Amino acid sequence: MEHGTPTAALRMIHIADLHFGAQSEGALVALREALRALHPSLVVATGDLTQRGQPDQLRAARDFLDSLQCPWVATPGNHDLPVMPWRRMIDPLRDYRRFLAAHTEPRIDSDLLRLAVLDSTDPKAWRAGRIEEARAQTAADYLSGSASGQIRVVATHHPFDELNEDGRDGMRGAQRALEILCGSGQVDLLLSGHLHQTRIGIVRNEGLRCVVGCVASTPTSPRREAAGEAFVCIDLREDAITLSPWRRTPDTERFRRVKARHFCRQRDNHWREIEPDLDDEGEG
Ligand SMILES: [Fe+2]
Ligand SMILES: [Fe+2]
Repeated sequence: MEHGTPTAALRMIHIADLHFGAQSEGALVALREALRALHPSLVVATGDLTQRGQPDQLRAARDFLDSLQCPWVATPGNHDLPVMPWRRMIDPLRDYRRFLAAHTEPRIDSDLLRLAVLDSTDPKAWRAGRIEEARAQTAADYLSGSASGQIRVVATHHPFDELNEDGRDGMRGAQRALEILCGSGQVDLLLSGHLHQTRIGIVRNEGLRCVVGCVASTPTSPRREAAGEAFVCIDLREDAITLSPWRRTPDTERFRRVKARHFCRQRDNHWREIEPDLDDEGEG
């Protein structure tokens, strides 16, 4: 039990943007120590595992994930594609498949969890990313086969609501994919990275179900949010999700838990935040 958090039925760690090849000093050691102490059932790494997609960086990221002593899944990010333009266009994920993971869209099916990873990288939309409608539908079909009591989760590198958050150029195909995943997929929780900022809250879109969104910041890159490197610990129960950011501030060597956010499923199947922490360091 961590800092008053009730015993979890399933604990998942969400990390993003590890950026092997360009990491803050000491961050990786602190991260490994924190993750092992949390005893997660699963680690989900949402892309940008490396800085330049080089074989040695991909291998180092793989070694790190293997060292966590628990199951893990990952999705590539834009930084995991080759830097050379011609290689990026011809076979962008060749080295990722060879050195990090053979599958770029793994699935997880367990008692409390049905998870679909969606690869949002696209060499033609390198920064923004893209979700093709057909692939979103395949993920939705997988999620729709979930058993009662399973939380349905989708993990991508690029966030779905980037456009809504700050008016920047958002992921291509995000709106249509969201309609499919929230509609027939009945997704409950969306995990992503890419922004190097922690954003937790309800993803609101006109006419769609309210679902929980979690953008994890980077736990290891010097290109981090001002408050420090961070990852998110997620505790899942049948109709409840608790998301607890852990942060390494400039004045401490270790990751420490900051305010938890609690969400519960309503009778109408929408998700709602409960007991909001008013002094939540501006995350949302
Ligand atoms: Fe990144
Ligand atoms: Fe990225």
